[in-house]
Amino acid sequence: MNTSNIAKSTLFTASLLLSTSAVSAAELNIYTTREPGLIQPLLDSFTAATGTKVNTVFMKDGLAERVATEGASSPADILMTVDAGNLIDLVEKGITQPVESTVLTESIPAQLRDDKGHWFALSMRARVIYAAKDADLTGFTYEDLADPKWKGKICIRSGQHPYNTALFADHIAHYGAEATEKWLTGLKDNLARKAAGGDRDGAKDILGGICDIAVANSYYVGLMRSGKGGEEQVTWANAINVVLPTFKDGGTQVNISGAAVAKNAPNKAEAVKLLEYLVSDEAQKIYAEANFEYPVKAGVAADPIIASFGELKIDPKPLTEIVSHRKQASELVDKVGFDN
Ligand SMILES: [Fe+2]
Repeated sequence: MNTSNIAKSTLFTASLLLSTSAVSAAELNIYTTREPGLIQPLLDSFTAATGTKVNTVFMKDGLAERVATEGASSPADILMTVDAGNLIDLVEKGITQPVESTVLTESIPAQLRDDKGHWFALSMRARVIYAAKDADLTGFTYEDLADPKWKGKICIRSGQHPYNTALFADHIAHYGAEATEKWLTGLKDNLARKAAGGDRDGAKDILGGICDIAVANSYYVGLMRSGKGGEEQVTWANAINVVLPTFKDGGTQVNISGAAVAKNAPNKAEAVKLLEYLVSDEAQKIYAEANFEYPVKAGVAADPIIASFGELKIDPKPLTEIVSHRKQASELVDKVGFDN
Protein backbone atom coordinates (compact mmCIF):
# COMPACT_ATOMS: atom_id res chain seq x y z
CA MET A 1 0.00 0.00 0.00
CA ASN A 2 1.38 3.43 -0.88
CA THR A 3 1.50 6.38 1.48
CA SER A 4 -1.49 8.18 0.04
CA ASN A 5 -3.63 5.06 0.36
CA ILE A 6 -2.57 4.66 3.97
CA ALA A 7 -3.37 8.31 4.56
CA LYS A 8 -6.76 7.92 2.90
CA SER A 9 -7.67 4.82 4.87
CA THR A 10 -6.43 6.48 8.05
CA LEU A 11 -8.69 9.45 7.44
CA PHE A 12 -11.60 7.21 6.57
CA THR A 13 -11.13 5.13 9.72
CA ALA A 14 -10.61 8.21 11.82
CA SER A 15 -13.91 9.69 10.72
CA LEU A 16 -15.63 6.35 11.30
CA LEU A 17 -14.33 5.91 14.81
CA LEU A 18 -14.72 9.54 15.80
CA SER A 19 -18.40 9.35 15.03
CA THR A 20 -18.89 6.46 17.43
CA SER A 21 -16.46 7.00 20.27
CA ALA A 22 -15.32 9.84 22.46
CA VAL A 23 -11.73 11.03 22.21
CA SER A 24 -9.84 10.10 25.38
CA ALA A 25 -6.29 10.57 26.57
CA ALA A 26 -5.86 6.93 27.49
CA GLU A 27 -2.84 4.80 26.76
CA LEU A 28 -2.64 1.21 25.73
CA ASN A 29 0.30 -1.20 26.10
CA ILE A 30 0.87 -4.07 23.70
CA TYR A 31 3.37 -6.81 24.44
CA THR A 32 4.16 -8.49 21.15
CA THR A 33 6.43 -11.18 19.74
CA ARG A 34 5.69 -9.82 16.26
CA GLU A 35 7.81 -7.23 14.53
CA PRO A 36 6.00 -4.01 15.63
CA GLY A 37 6.62 -2.42 12.21
CA LEU A 38 4.03 -4.80 10.74
CA ILE A 39 1.17 -3.22 12.65
CA GLN A 40 2.52 0.29 13.28
CA PRO A 41 0.45 1.95 10.51
CA LEU A 42 -2.69 0.44 12.09
CA LEU A 43 -1.79 1.58 15.57
CA ASP A 44 -1.08 5.09 14.29
CA SER A 45 -4.47 5.27 12.65
CA PHE A 46 -6.16 3.94 15.80
CA THR A 47 -4.43 6.66 17.81
CA ALA A 48 -5.46 9.32 15.32
CA ALA A 49 -9.06 8.17 15.59
CA THR A 50 -9.42 7.63 19.33
CA GLY A 51 -6.68 9.70 20.96
CA THR A 52 -5.49 6.54 22.68
CA LYS A 53 -1.71 6.35 22.55
CA VAL A 54 -0.47 2.83 21.84
CA ASN A 55 2.90 1.68 23.18
CA THR A 56 4.41 -1.53 21.88
CA VAL A 57 6.92 -3.63 23.77
CA PHE A 58 8.56 -6.07 21.39
CA MET A 59 10.08 -9.25 22.79
CA LYS A 60 11.16 -12.20 20.72
CA ASP A 61 11.00 -14.58 23.68
CA GLY A 62 9.77 -14.64 27.25
CA LEU A 63 6.50 -12.74 26.81
CA ALA A 64 4.44 -15.01 29.08
CA GLU A 65 7.18 -15.16 31.70
CA ARG A 66 7.46 -11.40 31.79
CA VAL A 67 3.72 -10.87 32.20
CA ALA A 68 3.55 -13.56 34.89
CA THR A 69 6.45 -11.99 36.78
CA GLU A 70 4.90 -8.53 36.61
CA GLY A 71 1.75 -9.98 38.13
CA ALA A 72 -1.05 -7.64 39.20
CA SER A 73 1.04 -4.56 38.41
CA SER A 74 1.71 -5.57 34.79
CA PRO A 75 1.12 -2.63 32.43
CA ALA A 76 0.32 -5.04 29.56
CA ASP A 77 -3.15 -4.62 28.05
CA ILE A 78 -2.84 -6.74 24.91
CA LEU A 79 -0.67 -9.80 24.34
CA MET A 80 0.01 -10.39 20.66
CA THR A 81 1.75 -13.37 19.11
CA VAL A 82 1.76 -15.85 16.24
CA ASP A 83 0.62 -19.45 16.45
CA ALA A 84 -2.53 -20.74 18.13
CA GLY A 85 -0.43 -22.89 20.45
CA ASN A 86 1.36 -19.82 21.79
CA LEU A 87 -1.96 -18.06 22.42
CA ILE A 88 -3.39 -21.08 24.22
CA ASP A 89 -0.21 -21.23 26.32
CA LEU A 90 -0.99 -17.69 27.54
CA VAL A 91 -4.46 -18.79 28.60
CA GLU A 92 -3.10 -21.87 30.36
CA LYS A 93 -0.60 -19.71 32.24
CA GLY A 94 -3.57 -17.72 33.59
CA ILE A 95 -2.44 -14.34 32.20
CA THR A 96 -5.41 -13.59 29.91
CA GLN A 97 -9.03 -12.64 30.52
CA PRO A 98 -12.22 -13.30 28.58
CA VAL A 99 -13.65 -10.63 26.31
CA GLU A 100 -17.25 -10.35 25.23
CA SER A 101 -17.60 -8.56 21.92
CA THR A 102 -20.08 -9.23 19.17
CA VAL A 103 -17.84 -7.27 16.79
CA LEU A 104 -15.10 -9.84 17.37
CA THR A 105 -17.32 -12.92 17.32
CA GLU A 106 -19.10 -11.77 14.17
CA SER A 107 -15.87 -10.88 12.35
CA ILE A 108 -13.74 -13.92 13.24
CA PRO A 109 -14.76 -17.48 12.27
CA ALA A 110 -15.57 -19.59 15.34
CA GLN A 111 -12.75 -22.12 14.82
CA LEU A 112 -10.23 -19.25 14.86
CA ARG A 113 -10.96 -17.92 18.34
CA ASP A 114 -11.35 -19.17 21.89
CA ASP A 115 -14.97 -20.08 22.64
CA LYS A 116 -14.65 -18.31 26.00
CA GLY A 117 -13.18 -15.15 24.45
CA HIS A 118 -9.62 -15.50 25.79
CA TRP A 119 -7.93 -15.13 22.39
CA PHE A 120 -8.79 -14.07 18.86
CA ALA A 121 -7.15 -14.62 15.48
CA LEU A 122 -6.29 -11.42 13.61
CA SER A 123 -4.69 -12.89 10.48
CA MET A 124 -4.08 -16.32 8.97
CA ARG A 125 -1.47 -18.27 7.10
CA ALA A 126 -2.13 -21.53 5.29
CA ARG A 127 0.07 -24.63 5.05
CA VAL A 128 0.14 -25.04 1.27
CA ILE A 129 1.90 -26.98 -1.46
CA TYR A 130 4.59 -25.49 -3.66
CA ALA A 131 4.68 -27.48 -6.90
CA ALA A 132 6.96 -27.72 -9.90
CA LYS A 133 5.34 -26.11 -12.94
CA ASP A 134 4.89 -29.45 -14.70
CA ALA A 135 3.41 -31.33 -11.71
CA ASP A 136 -0.33 -32.05 -11.93
CA LEU A 137 -1.87 -31.42 -8.51
CA THR A 138 -5.52 -31.14 -9.46
CA GLY A 139 -7.64 -31.91 -6.40
CA PHE A 140 -4.55 -32.51 -4.24
CA THR A 141 -5.23 -33.43 -0.60
CA TYR A 142 -2.95 -33.63 2.45
CA GLU A 143 -3.65 -37.35 2.41
CA ASP A 144 -1.96 -37.51 -1.03
CA LEU A 145 1.37 -36.57 0.57
CA ALA A 146 1.66 -40.23 1.60
CA ASP A 147 0.80 -41.59 -1.87
CA PRO A 148 3.77 -43.71 -3.11
CA LYS A 149 3.50 -42.02 -6.51
CA TRP A 150 5.38 -39.08 -4.90
CA LYS A 151 8.29 -41.27 -3.72
CA GLY A 152 11.51 -39.24 -3.61
CA LYS A 153 9.69 -36.10 -4.73
CA ILE A 154 8.68 -34.20 -1.58
CA CYS A 155 10.59 -31.53 0.37
CA ILE A 156 9.63 -30.35 3.85
CA ARG A 157 11.31 -28.76 6.86
CA SER A 158 11.80 -30.58 10.19
CA GLY A 159 8.75 -32.49 11.32
CA GLN A 160 9.23 -30.96 14.76
CA HIS A 161 8.84 -27.40 13.53
CA PRO A 162 5.59 -25.90 14.92
CA TYR A 163 4.31 -25.29 11.36
CA ASN A 164 4.47 -29.03 10.74
CA THR A 165 3.34 -30.29 14.14
CA ALA A 166 0.25 -28.08 13.69
CA LEU A 167 -0.46 -29.72 10.32
CA PHE A 168 0.11 -33.20 11.70
CA ALA A 169 -2.07 -32.39 14.74
CA ASP A 170 -4.84 -31.37 12.34
CA HIS A 171 -4.46 -34.78 10.69
CA ILE A 172 -4.89 -36.38 14.14
CA ALA A 173 -8.01 -34.26 14.68
CA HIS A 174 -9.46 -35.72 11.47
CA TYR A 175 -8.31 -39.33 11.63
CA GLY A 176 -6.79 -40.14 15.00
CA ALA A 177 -3.22 -41.04 16.00
CA GLU A 178 -2.97 -44.48 14.44
CA ALA A 179 -3.93 -43.32 10.97
CA THR A 180 -1.65 -40.31 11.36
CA GLU A 181 1.33 -42.51 12.19
CA LYS A 182 0.72 -44.44 8.97
CA TRP A 183 0.35 -41.24 6.99
CA LEU A 184 3.54 -39.75 8.45
CA THR A 185 5.45 -42.92 7.62
CA GLY A 186 4.20 -42.69 4.04
CA LEU A 187 5.15 -39.01 3.84
CA LYS A 188 8.60 -39.70 5.26
CA ASP A 189 9.11 -42.46 2.68
CA ASN A 190 8.32 -39.91 -0.05
CA LEU A 191 10.91 -37.34 1.02
CA ALA A 192 13.46 -36.27 -1.58
CA ARG A 193 15.90 -35.19 1.11
CA LYS A 194 16.20 -34.97 4.90
CA ALA A 195 13.37 -32.99 6.53
CA ALA A 196 15.30 -29.78 7.22
CA GLY A 197 15.84 -26.15 6.24
CA GLY A 198 13.12 -23.54 5.99
CA ASP A 199 9.90 -23.27 4.01
CA ARG A 200 11.51 -21.13 1.30
CA ASP A 201 14.04 -23.90 0.68
CA GLY A 202 11.10 -25.89 -0.71
CA ALA A 203 10.81 -23.44 -3.61
CA LYS A 204 14.59 -23.25 -4.00
CA ASP A 205 14.86 -27.05 -4.16
CA ILE A 206 12.04 -27.30 -6.68
CA LEU A 207 13.97 -24.86 -8.87
CA GLY A 208 17.08 -26.99 -8.30
CA GLY A 209 15.25 -30.15 -9.41
CA ILE A 210 15.62 -31.84 -6.00
CA CYS A 211 11.88 -32.17 -5.40
CA ASP A 212 8.58 -31.79 -7.27
CA ILE A 213 6.46 -30.62 -4.37
CA ALA A 214 7.09 -28.96 -1.02
CA VAL A 215 4.98 -28.29 2.06
CA ALA A 216 5.28 -24.66 3.14
CA ASN A 217 3.49 -21.56 4.40
CA SER A 218 1.51 -19.30 2.09
CA TYR A 219 3.01 -15.91 3.04
CA TYR A 220 6.55 -16.88 2.02
CA VAL A 221 5.38 -16.88 -1.59
CA GLY A 222 4.39 -13.22 -1.19
CA LEU A 223 7.69 -12.39 0.48
CA MET A 224 9.64 -14.16 -2.28
CA ARG A 225 7.60 -13.16 -5.33
CA SER A 226 7.32 -9.49 -4.34
CA GLY A 227 11.10 -9.14 -4.16
CA LYS A 228 11.03 -8.41 -0.42
CA GLY A 229 13.28 -11.44 0.09
CA GLY A 230 15.79 -10.33 -2.52
CA GLU A 231 16.33 -11.02 -6.23
CA GLU A 232 17.36 -14.66 -5.86
CA GLN A 233 14.13 -15.56 -4.07
CA VAL A 234 12.09 -14.09 -6.92
CA THR A 235 13.56 -16.81 -9.15
CA TRP A 236 12.68 -19.49 -6.56
CA ALA A 237 9.09 -18.28 -6.32
CA ASN A 238 8.70 -18.03 -10.06
CA ALA A 239 9.69 -21.70 -10.38
CA ILE A 240 6.59 -22.87 -8.50
CA ASN A 241 2.84 -23.04 -8.65
CA VAL A 242 0.95 -22.86 -5.38
CA VAL A 243 -1.83 -25.28 -4.57
CA LEU A 244 -4.20 -25.06 -1.60
CA PRO A 245 -4.63 -28.66 -0.48
CA THR A 246 -7.48 -29.75 1.76
CA PHE A 247 -8.19 -32.70 3.98
CA LYS A 248 -10.54 -35.05 2.12
CA ASP A 249 -13.29 -34.35 4.62
CA GLY A 250 -12.27 -30.79 5.49
CA GLY A 251 -10.39 -27.72 4.34
CA THR A 252 -6.95 -26.16 4.21
CA GLN A 253 -4.94 -26.14 7.45
CA VAL A 254 -4.35 -22.62 8.75
CA ASN A 255 -2.48 -21.11 11.63
CA ILE A 256 -2.89 -17.58 12.90
CA SER A 257 -1.50 -14.46 14.38
CA GLY A 258 -3.69 -13.28 17.19
CA ALA A 259 -4.12 -11.47 20.45
CA ALA A 260 -5.49 -11.77 23.96
CA VAL A 261 -6.42 -9.18 26.55
CA ALA A 262 -4.09 -9.49 29.55
CA LYS A 263 -5.62 -10.60 32.84
CA ASN A 264 -4.51 -7.44 34.65
CA ALA A 265 -4.97 -5.03 31.74
CA PRO A 266 -5.15 -1.51 33.18
CA ASN A 267 -7.06 -0.34 30.07
CA LYS A 268 -9.40 -3.17 29.18
CA ALA A 269 -12.04 -1.07 27.42
CA GLU A 270 -9.45 0.49 25.11
CA ALA A 271 -7.84 -2.90 24.56
CA VAL A 272 -11.13 -4.35 23.33
CA LYS A 273 -11.66 -1.28 21.14
CA LEU A 274 -8.27 -1.83 19.50
CA LEU A 275 -8.99 -5.51 18.84
CA GLU A 276 -12.32 -4.54 17.31
CA TYR A 277 -10.54 -1.99 15.15
CA LEU A 278 -8.01 -4.62 14.01
CA VAL A 279 -10.84 -6.72 12.54
CA SER A 280 -12.45 -3.79 10.71
CA ASP A 281 -12.41 -4.05 6.90
CA GLU A 282 -9.83 -1.26 6.61
CA ALA A 283 -7.49 -2.68 9.22
CA GLN A 284 -7.79 -6.24 7.96
CA LYS A 285 -6.73 -5.15 4.50
CA ILE A 286 -3.66 -3.30 5.74
CA TYR A 287 -2.86 -6.02 8.27
CA ALA A 288 -2.97 -8.74 5.64
CA GLU A 289 -0.91 -6.81 3.10
CA ALA A 290 1.85 -6.04 5.60
CA ASN A 291 3.01 -9.67 5.67
CA PHE A 292 1.03 -11.41 2.90
CA GLU A 293 -1.28 -13.05 5.44
CA TYR A 294 -4.93 -13.90 4.93
CA PRO A 295 -7.47 -11.58 6.54
CA VAL A 296 -9.62 -13.46 9.08
CA LYS A 297 -12.68 -11.44 8.17
CA ALA A 298 -14.76 -12.80 5.32
CA GLY A 299 -15.03 -10.48 2.33
CA VAL A 300 -11.71 -8.70 2.85
CA ALA A 301 -9.35 -9.36 -0.05
CA ALA A 302 -5.91 -10.86 0.46
CA ASP A 303 -2.87 -9.43 -1.32
CA PRO A 304 -3.14 -10.20 -5.08
CA ILE A 305 -0.17 -12.62 -4.93
CA ILE A 306 -1.94 -14.62 -2.21
CA ALA A 307 -5.38 -14.29 -3.79
CA SER A 308 -3.95 -15.81 -6.99
CA PHE A 309 -3.70 -19.22 -5.24
CA GLY A 310 -7.49 -19.53 -5.39
CA GLU A 311 -10.19 -19.45 -2.77
CA LEU A 312 -9.11 -20.52 0.72
CA LYS A 313 -11.48 -22.99 2.36
CA ILE A 314 -10.46 -23.03 6.01
CA ASP A 315 -10.40 -26.40 7.74
CA PRO A 316 -13.36 -26.44 10.14
CA LYS A 317 -11.55 -28.18 13.03
CA PRO A 318 -11.21 -25.65 15.89
CA LEU A 319 -7.65 -24.48 16.53
CA THR A 320 -8.15 -25.35 20.20
CA GLU A 321 -8.75 -28.98 19.24
CA ILE A 322 -5.81 -29.03 16.83
CA VAL A 323 -3.46 -27.57 19.44
CA SER A 324 -4.58 -30.25 21.93
CA HIS A 325 -3.08 -32.88 19.58
CA ARG A 326 0.28 -31.17 19.14
CA LYS A 327 2.19 -33.10 21.76
CA GLN A 328 1.00 -36.36 20.29
CA ALA A 329 1.95 -35.13 16.80
CA SER A 330 5.45 -34.33 18.02
CA GLU A 331 5.76 -37.79 19.59
CA LEU A 332 4.70 -39.42 16.32
CA VAL A 333 7.35 -37.40 14.44
CA ASP A 334 9.96 -38.99 16.69
CA LYS A 335 8.36 -42.42 16.55
CA VAL A 336 8.46 -42.63 12.74
CA GLY A 337 11.95 -41.11 12.63
CA PHE A 338 10.65 -38.31 10.43
CA ASP A 339 13.76 -36.14 10.75
CA ASN A 340 16.34 -38.96 10.53
FE1 LIG B 1 7.41 -18.12 9.17
